[in-house]
Amino acid sequence: MPSPAPGIAIWQCDLELSENQIAMLAQCLSAAERQRATRFGMPLLRARYVIGRARLRWVLGRALSIEPQAVMIETGRRGRPFVRGHEVDFNVSHTQAIALIGIVNHGRIGVDIESGNRRVNVEGVGRRFMTLRERGELATLADDDRRRALLRLWTCKEALSKATGDALSAPFRHLEVAVAPAPRLVAGPPPYVPADWQLFDVALNGDYLATVAWWRTETPDPGCRRDQKRPASRGVSGEYTTFFITPSASFRGGLLF
Ligand SMILES: CC(C)(COP(=O)(O)OP(=O)(O)OC[C@H]1O[C@@H](n2cnc3c(N)ncnc32)[C@H](O)[C@@H]1OP(=O)(O)O)[C@@H](O)C(=O)NCCC(=O)NCCS
Repeated sequence: MPSPAPGIAIWQCDLELSENQIAMLAQCLSAAERQRATRFGMPLLRARYVIGRARLRWVLGRALSIEPQAVMIETGRRGRPFVRGHEVDFNVSHTQAIALIGIVNHGRIGVDIESGNRRVNVEGVGRRFMTLRERGELATLADDDRRRALLRLWTCKEALSKATGDALSAPFRHLEVAVAPAPRLVAGPPPYVPADWQLFDVALNGDYLATVAWWRTETPDPGCRRDQKRPASRGVSGEYTTFFITPSASFRGGLLF
């Protein structure tokens, strides 16, 4: 499958494996990640976390030409994860038993995936997160089209907010997004300046809506000092890889909807 653009690599991962496979994958996790895994009450969620982290380490290790267990994943402002000391940036999103991983050579990336059948409080989310123009357009649509259009807008805005690390504190109601013919940021307060951003729809197997946001910023990653020299990485080649996909039981509780 094609990459959204040169310099971006996307990986779709299935988060279901056998106990033995999960135990093997767990070996490449850091002590802190293993500790975090033990804090998941439900075995299903613990397994998905271990598989997702191991896949992420494998993908990053490949991009950086280092072993998966040697990848130093840290968290910056508001918990945004990044790789210390490298130009490569990544972001992850999960829904149900699927994870989407995006990596870029430079700048920052945000990704978001939502299940197409997700139930949404359309009015409430619209009021809280959409611009007047977006709400006006949503109002012209029939019920289910409106729900899906809102989800599509939401994946764009959440991907933007995850690239900056703002997450839920992003100025969503001031981020004007157009979804057709292709998604784009139309207007927003700094750093959401349209000229610095590209949005991409990601077509996945199954009923999912997913967006990649690429922020072409020169700002270093959170936690990386400006004077810090970063080692060169092998980088990403603009590939798109599917590990395997089997949608199953619900993964997230629904933070917003
Ligand atoms: C970013 C966020 C909105 C995503 O929530 P979501 O839609 O339920 O989940 P997604 O599956 O799309 O994304 C989760 C992943 O985003 C990444 N992530 C976490 N915080 C992030 C941030 N601030 N920016 C970008 N990515 C972030 C993580 O990789 C996380 O996966 P992991 O927990 O397995 O490591 C949520 O994690 C969040 O609210 N984080 C911010 C918390 C915050 O503001 N804390 C303030 C402390 S001062």
